[in-house]
Amino acid sequence: MNQKVVLITGCSSGIGLALATRIAKDEKKRFMVYATMRNLSKGEALVEAAGRTLGRTMEIKQLDVCNEDSIKACVDSLPERRVDILISNAGMGMIGPIECQSIDDMRSVMDTNFFGLVRLLKEILPDMKRRKKGHIVVISSVMGIQGILFNDIYAASKFAVEGFCESLAVQALRFNLNISLIEPGPVITEFERKVYDEGLKTDLSKADKVTADMFTNIYLKNYKQIFETLGQSADDVAEHTFKIITMENPPFRHQTNTLYTPMTTLKYADPNGDLPIDTFYKMVFEHDKVFNASLNFLKLLRWRKGAALTGIGRGSTN
Ligand SMILES: NC(=O)c1ccc[n+]([C@@H]2O[C@H](COP(=O)([O-])OP(=O)(O)OC[C@H]3O[C@@H](n4cnc5c(N)ncnc54)[C@H](OP(=O)(O)O)[C@@H]3O)[C@@H](O)[C@H]2O)c1
Repeated sequence: MNQKVVLITGCSSGIGLALATRIAKDEKKRFMVYATMRNLSKGEALVEAAGRTLGRTMEIKQLDVCNEDSIKACVDSLPERRVDILISNAGMGMIGPIECQSIDDMRSVMDTNFFGLVRLLKEILPDMKRRKKGHIVVISSVMGIQGILFNDIYAASKFAVEGFCESLAVQALRFNLNISLIEPGPVITEFERKVYDEGLKTDLSKADKVTADMFTNIYLKNYKQIFETLGQSADDVAEHTFKIITMENPPFRHQTNTLYTPMTTLKYADPNGDLPIDTFYKMVFEHDKVFNASLNFLKLLRWRKGAALTGIGRGSTN
């Protein structure tokens, strides 16, 4: 059977874990998945989720996107070094006022989210070009096209990813290769918890009172509600990505969350760039009550949609 080889990074949790499992469980067994993680001792959850696919359509391997030797060793260990579909998923978040963040911590975000992808492609792209076959799928973010308050460094790392891929996409076409950027909005994974916990620990002593107050009493205060209201599951993002890798002509960009689309549309509606910035400003500082009411309304709509799908509606006695 001519299976496609899929290499995925960051599979110890979240989207990477959901993706590896979804692809390995393909009913038609079209894929051999190499699910990688930097620390193999964190593999328990994936082993459990993989079930009977382990050793059949899935293998787990070590790969740290911040370490070129580790990437090379992993690719060298694959039969003929062949990767048909690379899914660059490993990533980390960072929130807070920049005056309270160290350059070292910022570098670490860029090193993982941006240079991690660059390192992978330096190792894998030449082989794909030689074979004139391959699909590079990058888990980007809506923050790769639109900055969000207090996500300055994270958004910068995802903008870097998007600019890099957009530049590369034209060259890739010449070699019959596809590049796809998957752009989720908020996704409920470890990422959300880690970023929030780090945010709570931020030493705000270097920030002025207005900034510190904005971060604590507006941003952090609404953080969980935004994830609860707009957040998708990792399985949902995996399903979207699965569709993209099985398409004949996959798109360059794919947003996974329709609830978020109105926000990103603002970006394309105004070439001057003022519209999304003004709208976000008004939403956060002038119409915060309307913003909160909208979130509650969305939550209700989602609940009703979920209830309709599961058959548990208002008339239900359960
Ligand atoms: N959650 C969201 O709201 C959201 C929204 C849009 C986009 N995304 C993107 O989705 C991707 C996956 O995030 P997630 O939500 O699934 O978060 P997650 O559960 O925290 O998963 C992140 C994964 O990346 C791995 N990782 C971090 N640094 C690495 C390195 N140097 N080498 C290899 N793996 C490394 C982590 O491994 P360890 O367990 O060893 O730390 C973990 O497996 C990220 O690129 C993120 O930016 C997330």
